[in-house]
Amino acid sequence: MKAAIVFLSLVCLGLSAPQPRKPFHDHFSDFVNLILEESEHEMEHLNGHYLEFDEFKASLDFMAGRDFNSLVHEMEDLPEFKAVVEFLEGHEIDITYYIDMFNDIIDNLSSGNGKRHELSGINMSAYIQDTIALLPKEKLAAMYDEKMENDEEFKRAMDSLQSEEWQEIWNALWENETFKAEADLLAENGIELQMLLTELVAIFGQN
Ligand SMILES: *[C@@H]1O[C@H](CO)[C@@H](O)[C@H](O)[C@H]1NC(C)=O
Ligand SMILES: *[C@@H]1O[C@H](CO)[C@@H](O)[C@H](O)[C@H]1NC(C)=O
Ligand SMILES: *[C@@H]1O[C@H](CO)[C@@H](O)[C@H](O)[C@H]1NC(C)=O
Repeated sequence: MKAAIVFLSLVCLGLSAPQPRKPFHDHFSDFVNLILEESEHEMEHLNGHYLEFDEFKASLDFMAGRDFNSLVHEMEDLPEFKAVVEFLEGHEIDITYYIDMFNDIIDNLSSGNGKRHELSGINMSAYIQDTIALLPKEKLAAMYDEKMENDEEFKRAMDSLQSEEWQEIWNALWENETFKAEADLLAENGIELQMLLTELVAIFGQN
């Protein structure tokens, strides 16, 4: 995922010095750091369990492979996908950062050790569900509220995801037959895009 990141450069008129901007991904890191502080050890234990399951490992292997790579590149080339990336980047949400992070997480999954846990299944979706259960939900939601109240840029970015324009761009992607076929192929390999989105929303304490 190497779509060019386009930051809107804001021209500051007048005499006052520009406020230092906090890039959206720094806000996101605040959420991730809170999660690591609260739940890192539990997450590592969870990883250890799931790495014992063949079904889960098969999804990881698929993601490490050539087919996955070319599928991701094909997705990127869809005009509807490009529209999604452009919209997000136009609203300061630098999507490539998250995709890189997601890749890191997958790479990092191979480390971890075992401890008793209630597991809801043996595949990738169950894993995501179980990681969401470990999130410090109330603290994440409080952080979200605090940022919405005190950071105009953060609020603007989040509000853009409530807009009709975003809904249309998003729906167009899911209506593209090529995209749907690719999403189905991912699901056949245990990777449900909807689950990844659910996880993303949960990181902000919003579900
Ligand atoms: C992945 O592991 C590396 C090395 O241990 C670490 O620096 C990095 O923060 C980890 N990334 C994520 C997303 O967990
Ligand atoms: C979906 O993407 C393909 C490949 O870029 C394109 O040919 C097609 O027009 C798009 N739209 C629909 C509705 O399938
Ligand atoms: C994962 O397992 C659950 C049951 O735990 C099942 O309902 C779901 O369809 C599975 N998902 C995939 C993508 O295989």
